[in-house]
Amino acid sequence: MLSVVKMIREDLANARDHDPAARGDLENAIVYSGLHAIWAHRIAHAWWKSGFRGPARILSQLNRFFTGIEIHPGATIGRRFFIDHGMGVVIGETSEIGDGVMLYHGVTLGGQVLTQTKRHPTIEDNVTIGAGAKVLGPITVGAGSAIGSNAVVTKDVPANHIAVGIPAKARPRGKEETIKLVDPDYYI
Ligand SMILES: CC(C)(COP(=O)(O)OP(=O)(O)OC[C@H]1O[C@@H](n2cnc3c(N)ncnc32)[C@H](O)[C@@H]1OP(=O)(O)O)[C@@H](O)C(=O)NCCC(=O)NCCS
Repeated sequence: MLSVVKMIREDLANARDHDPAARGDLENAIVYSGLHAIWAHRIAHAWWKSGFRGPARILSQLNRFFTGIEIHPGATIGRRFFIDHGMGVVIGETSEIGDGVMLYHGVTLGGQVLTQTKRHPTIEDNVTIGAGAKVLGPITVGAGSAIGSNAVVTKDVPANHIAVGIPAKARPRGKEETIKLVDPDYYI
């Protein structure tokens, strides 16, 4: 119980940290669909791992109905995960997401094959993925990297790189780019 309260507090602090529009914790807990989605996913994922796969899928679809965010209950997601705006996010079954990852609306972590293998991306710690970006296949986006909005990424992105475009091209982050990759001061 204590760890659940700790996790909720950490998620609320993380939402404040990532969104300049965030106000009080109570309001954020009520209005942020990105928070509702990750909380429902954690329950669905626990059910999935315990073998209650049908109920886990149903909860996941209810989550999608209410938040517009579809996360397969099999997806593994770390701490301090935040989705801003949320609508249209799809996270596939074999996706693996590290700690401190942030997604915007319209992001897809998708597969390119129909076989039941590891077919979705691995997103390492502290990656930011911009609005509308599609990251496809069992590729890895290295820690501390950012994917630009609307990029289509089908190849590995090394750690501490920025990838933009279709197909996405990655370049190392400059030394001066040590601040948050998507600085809240620069967008609404
Ligand atoms: C990619 C990103 C993280 C910043 O990258 P950056 O390299 O620091 O960006 P810069 O502003 O220095 O631009 C560098 C070049 O990349 C281009 N660029 C930036 N973002 C791009 C994108 N998403 N797609 C294509 N090109 C992009 C710029 O136009 C610029 O081109 P130029 O060198 O020909 O002038 C950022 O642009 C981005 O896409 N962030 C996502 C933000 C988001 O989704 N916000 C949603 C808020 S609701």
